[in-house]
Amino acid sequence: MSVLSLAVLISGRGSNLQALINACAAPDFPARIHLVISNNPDAGGLKRAKQANIPTHIINHRDYPDKASFEKALHQALSACPLDYICLAGFMRVLSADFLNKWPHQVINIHPSLLPAYKGLNTHARALADKQQEAGCTVHYVTPAIDDGPIIMQEKVPILPVDTVQSLTERVLAAEHRLYPEAIRWLAGKNR
Ligand code: GRF
Repeated sequence: MSVLSLAVLISGRGSNLQALINACAAPDFPARIHLVISNNPDAGGLKRAKQANIPTHIINHRDYPDKASFEKALHQALSACPLDYICLAGFMRVLSADFLNKWPHQVINIHPSLLPAYKGLNTHARALADKQQEAGCTVHYVTPAIDDGPIIMQEKVPILPVDTVQSLTERVLAAEHRLYPEAIRWLAGKNR
């Protein structure tokens, strides 16, 4: 099985980044994180990366006049080392087709719903309002349309009658932390 070289893109607390860091710490896990990039200088995930001795970059979209120049800086930073996959983990910028075409089938994301249901934000509140019986999370390839690319792997989470947005968020997040490493493991097997 090949050992995948990953970059992780974050904007916030980075609990999914932490799940990937933890998975990669196991000697038999078929991936290593070589780079963490945040568009937000205050992202909590940056600290997690530093604690794990992973090089970090801050590429703040606010420092660039437009999306094209922000994405050019992102592309340059990502090109510094050979990468198999760019893993979005709570990365709150929409990437353009121009950027994604430079990394074909290499940009993946984790989303807190069973796509194609509940694309976008506030997924759990909407699922509860619709009285759904099942929630979950999805790892998928990133395409220019938001939360729309081909699905790699999903984990279902039952919705309980007592669930609140908070309790459901917590259970789905725990599932996310299992699913992202599992999806990476599967991709490593596929790339053999
Ligand atoms: C996760 O729920 C992820 O699915 C979504 O944003 C959240 C990021 O959380 N895209 P964290 O920064 O990984 O803790």
